[in-house]
Amino acid sequence: MKFLVLHGPNLNLLGKREPEVYGTRTLDDINHSLEKLALELGCSLLFFQTNSEGELINSIQGATIDCDGILINPAAYTHTSIAIRDALSAVVLPCVEVHLSNIHNRETFRHKSLIAPVAIGQICGFGSDSYLLGLRALFNHVVNIQKSVDRSWKPE
Ligand code: DQA
Repeated sequence: MKFLVLHGPNLNLLGKREPEVYGTRTLDDINHSLEKLALELGCSLLFFQTNSEGELINSIQGATIDCDGILINPAAYTHTSIAIRDALSAVVLPCVEVHLSNIHNRETFRHKSLIAPVAIGQICGFGSDSYLLGLRALFNHVVNIQKSVDRSWKPE
């Protein structure tokens, strides 16, 4: 099982960027913790960070080739990008949306996520743990789908 982990704009600055909001862990630290968890769960991860909306869309489309799901922090595009939402909806891969901060107790423009309606669920407010919780949730979701497919399979 393989998952695409997507980090949106400005997340390359984690560690230095508003540490009182986003914490002091860098993106490399977060990816390293995700790798450790993936090893425990028995899945593999593909990481990508970009500040560009188009590159996020291209990589979502590319995930259909060999990924079983997408873990995404769309960052500011969460609140603005119909194009990213449409890409996630088009690829029909299970997707979990994560945020370091609790977007619902911040400025009102952050309360709305255009991504949430096309995601299995959203995890926010737990700092870098949001990513780990998100990966567990995505992994369990895909395992459960596979189990239900196995159960419904009957020999002719
Ligand atoms: C964020 C929340 C967004 O509102 C913000 O634009 C980000 C980071 C988070 O992880 O808390 O860049 O996605």
